[in-house]
Amino acid sequence: MAEAHRTARRMLSLGLFMPNCSNMPSISTHEVVSDQWTYAENELLAQRAEALGFDYLFPVSRWRGFGGETNFLGTSLETTTWAAALLRTTERINIFSTVHVPLFHPFVVAKMGATLAHMSSDRWGLNVVSGWSAREFGMMGVELAEHSRRYERTAAFIEILRGLWDSTQQPLNHHSDWYRVIDGEASPIPQRQPQIANAGTSADAQSMTARLCDWAFISTPSIAAVGSIVESIASQAAVHHRRVRTAIFPFLLWADSRSEAEDRLAAIIASKDSVAVDNWLHDLTAGSGSFDDFTKDMLAASGGGVHVVGTAADVVEQLIEAHRLGVDAVMLTFPQYRDDLERFARDIQPALVDANIVAP
Ligand SMILES: Cc1cc2nc3c(=O)[nH]c(=O)nc-3n(C[C@H](O)[C@H](O)[C@H](O)COP(=O)(O)O)c2cc1C
Repeated sequence: MAEAHRTARRMLSLGLFMPNCSNMPSISTHEVVSDQWTYAENELLAQRAEALGFDYLFPVSRWRGFGGETNFLGTSLETTTWAAALLRTTERINIFSTVHVPLFHPFVVAKMGATLAHMSSDRWGLNVVSGWSAREFGMMGVELAEHSRRYERTAAFIEILRGLWDSTQQPLNHHSDWYRVIDGEASPIPQRQPQIANAGTSADAQSMTARLCDWAFISTPSIAAVGSIVESIASQAAVHHRRVRTAIFPFLLWADSRSEAEDRLAAIIASKDSVAVDNWLHDLTAGSGSFDDFTKDMLAASGGGVHVVGTAADVVEQLIEAHRLGVDAVMLTFPQYRDDLERFARDIQPALVDANIVAP
């Protein structure tokens, strides 16, 4: 990324990757906060995050758990109804919903989104998921399309959404393998186009995101590795004369000493739910991959979030580095959201403000 572009960038936005599903964020039986997924807990967290100056809340959408002792994510709150309630109990923070494209007609999502935007002075955003778990979709009798076709469908879905949120494009007509729209109309429309995010990791996902989305949510094995992914998305978006913002979802674990933090991480991994981890990886790779124990342990600890582990100073340094490498936002996950959010506000947030990368 060119230096001029980098200096023109905004500050690092803070977000919470919310625990609207059971057992988040670790695929482990270690110190599970059993009521963390409930609406009451989510509302408390949302209000507290807003009071602390966070900009975004982001949920997970799941229809089925991953089995094993934890049945990881098996109990979950649906994310459009969840967002409706939270948008009305907050005033400033932006809140996303997540939808699986093959499970919703775009007219339905356009209407839900326009309603949520209307209810919230345009603070609502959408994460589109193309689908990846045959166990989840199979339960509903819905087939997973071949990988590149999934993203063709998601692109068509977004184009229809954008048209239904823009009166100048109506009556809207669209013909593709996936949808037929004939003189489509929708009202009300949001006052501004809702932000659309995609969190796919593949080349298909990246090129679709670069062309049509506002946000790319990046899965990265390390902070150091994020720079090349940010660059790749930026250069693909530039071809379309677009800028796509990027977010990562770090799993923050810090203690007074590095060894204490590492011991806590090791305790989470020691109690990993191997059955659920294997089911997750099997679904994600359609059974094609075999994974080493290191990868499984990384996944078990954080549910796929990048590990940021050490002292508070180490965490601050890593987040500053992520911003330096071009990341626009961090959707934080914690082992214990309620306590750790307060610890974050005390131990880490002030240092990010002092470093002039997070707004005071
Ligand atoms: C930050 C983040 C959030 C995601 N949220 C969801 C989700 O809520 N529900 C879901 O089924 N998949 C979710 N995914 C999965 C992705 O959308 C994507 O389908 C998956 O990583 C496979 O990538 P691919 O589709 O590019 O192969 C998420 C991924 C990431 C990195």
